[in-house]
Amino acid sequence: MRQAYFLTGTDLAVGKSLIATGFLYTGARSWDLKVLGLKPVVAGPGDDIDRLVAASNVESPRHYINPYHFDEPVAPNIAAKGVGKTIDLGHIKYCFDEVRGRADLVIVEGIGGFCAPLNDSETVADLAKLLALPVIVVVGLKQGCLNHTLLTIDAIKAKGLPVAGWVANEVERDMQCVSETVTTLKTYLAEPLLGYIRYQDQPDGKNLVKQLSMPD
Ligand SMILES: Nc1ncnc2c1ncn2[C@@H]1O[C@H](COP(=O)(O)OP(=O)(O)OP(=O)(O)O)[C@@H](O)[C@H]1O
Ligand SMILES: [Mg+2]
Repeated sequence: MRQAYFLTGTDLAVGKSLIATGFLYTGARSWDLKVLGLKPVVAGPGDDIDRLVAASNVESPRHYINPYHFDEPVAPNIAAKGVGKTIDLGHIKYCFDEVRGRADLVIVEGIGGFCAPLNDSETVADLAKLLALPVIVVVGLKQGCLNHTLLTIDAIKAKGLPVAGWVANEVERDMQCVSETVTTLKTYLAEPLLGYIRYQDQPDGKNLVKQLSMPD
């Protein structure tokens, strides 16, 4: 197996990093794979890169793992403009190509949701398209997620990319009608449910090893 996936979510802060590290730990521990997590663009403080590096078991220079890092916790196109920079998707592709061969499983964590702008004319969707990767969707279970999920799946298909599967993630402790929401998604989506992650008091990707299925 040598596979790479683009991991997006129904919004920002829906558990992309938690699930990305969950897949990396699963690949390493259950399948004995060499695994590598990348996050090409970060805006704001956060610890996404440290978490991905901790979950990876192959080395890679940080400027390939995360070629763009901005301090301001705002949309990446705005953060970049604020410091006089432009995010270049071609450069991200170059960094990805440099390291993808080092691992059997590469997970590229997106930024925000699937249609978040990266510069004046290109979005996260264009990046996924340029990298030509199957997409995993993390559904943050909260009110409004049915609409966000269906819009996200449509946007992925509109780019001509395969949806490798989706993960239901309980980001809220007490969402009303949470099981009915997951059932509704199962009814609407033909793509495989790769895991249903319950609300965790201490969220940690290591705890997901028995809870996530690897996409085909
Ligand atoms: N299943 C869960 N149970 C409890 N808390 C969760 C769960 N999933 C995510 N969280 C919490 O929600 C917050 C956002 O999660 P995470 O950082 O993984 O999201 P993200 O989509 O990667 O965010 P970003 O858009 O900043 O990259 C974190 O505080 C995380 O611990
Ligand atoms: Mg994240």
